[in-house]
Amino acid sequence: MNNMSQLKIVFLAALKSRITQSEPTSLYDPVHYILDLGGKRLRPLLTLMSAQMYGSTFDKAMDAAIAVEVFHNFTLLHDDIMDDADLRRGEETVHVKWDVNTGILSGDAMLIIAYQLFNSYDAQTFYELNQVFSKTALEVCEGQQYDVDFETRDDVTIPEYLHMIKLKTSVLVGCALKMGAIIAGVDEKEQQLIYDYGVLLGLAFQLMDDYLDAFGDPETFGKEVGGDIRENKKTYLYLKSIEDEGCATELKEWFAMDYKEMNEEQIEMKKETVKVFFEESGGAAATLEAIKSYTDKALRIIKQLSISDDSKKQLTDFSLDLMSRIS
Ligand code: IPE
Ligand code: IPE
Ligand code: MG
Ligand code: MG
Ligand code: MG
Repeated sequence: MNNMSQLKIVFLAALKSRITQSEPTSLYDPVHYILDLGGKRLRPLLTLMSAQMYGSTFDKAMDAAIAVEVFHNFTLLHDDIMDDADLRRGEETVHVKWDVNTGILSGDAMLIIAYQLFNSYDAQTFYELNQVFSKTALEVCEGQQYDVDFETRDDVTIPEYLHMIKLKTSVLVGCALKMGAIIAGVDEKEQQLIYDYGVLLGLAFQLMDDYLDAFGDPETFGKEVGGDIRENKKTYLYLKSIEDEGCATELKEWFAMDYKEMNEEQIEMKKETVKVFFEESGGAAATLEAIKSYTDKALRIIKQLSISDDSKKQLTDFSLDLMSRIS
C-alpha cells in the first residue's frame, strides 16, 4: 500500500471521529450523509502530504485536513442547490433527499465546523491558517457568483472563465497545500510556491471536471452527465467550440435556451447535439490540451520545491493521476 492510500485510511477514520455532532438530527444527518458519500478526498490528502513533505507529521495537519474537506463538502451542498443538481457521488443530493432549506442550513453548519477545527492549533498557526482559509473561502464565493453570472451572459471570454475557475476551485487546492506548509513551519516563499503549484493543478482539475461533465461515463461520473450543458455553463469546452465559425451560431442558440422551459426530451436532445459540436469544433480536443498544459506547468513547479526527490515523485504521480481520472 502506498503512502497516499494509507493517508486516506487514517484521514477517513479521523473524519469520522472528529465530526460527531448529532442533534438536531435534521441539521446534522445531511452533514454525515454528504461526508460519508465518499469522494476523492483530494484536498485533505494534499494538506496531509504537504505537511509530511515539509518534515511535519500527518497527525499535526489532521484538523486542517478535516477542515478543508468539510468546507469543500459545504460548498458542494450549496453548489448543488445553485446548479439544480440531483446527483452527487452517485446518490441524491442533499436538497433533493431533504429540501433546499436543509441544504442551506446544514451547509452553513459545515462552514462553521470547518472553522472550529482550527481551534486546536497554537495562536500563531491558528492566525496563519485562518488568514489563508478565510481569504480562500471568500474567493470561492466570488468564483461561484461569476459562474452563475456567466450562465446568462453571451460574451464571456476565456480569460474570464480561467479567472472564474481559479476562484471557485483552484485557490482551495492551493490553500490545502499551503496549510500543510504552514503547519510544518516553512518560510513564506516556499508556502507561496506550493500554493502556486496547487492553483495550477486546480485549473487542470476544474478543466477536467468540465470535460467529464460532458464526456464522462454516467456509470462512473457520479453526477448528471451534461448538467453544465443543460445549465448553459460557459466552460472552456463551450468557449473554445464557439471559436469555430461552423459551430458558433447553433451552439450559441442552444446556450440561449432556458432548461426550465424545456421538457426532458428537449434537454436530452440539447445535450447530445451540443456534445457533437464540442467534438467537431475541436473544443473537446482543445480542452484536453489545456488540461495537459496546466498539469505540465504544475509539474514544473514541483521541480523547484524544497522537498525530497521521493516527495517530488509522489506529488508528480498524484498530479498525473488526476489528469486521467474518470470521476
Ligand atoms: C467537485 O470536486 C467540485 C469541483 C471543484 C470540481 P471533487 O471532484 O473533488 O469532488 P469529490 O469530493 O471528489 O466528490
Ligand atoms: C464546483 O463547480 C465549484 C464549487 C463547488 C465551489 P461545479 O459546479 O463544476 O462542481 P460540480 O461539477 O457540481 O462538482
Ligand atoms: Mg455543480
Ligand atoms: Mg457549480
Ligand atoms: Mg462540474
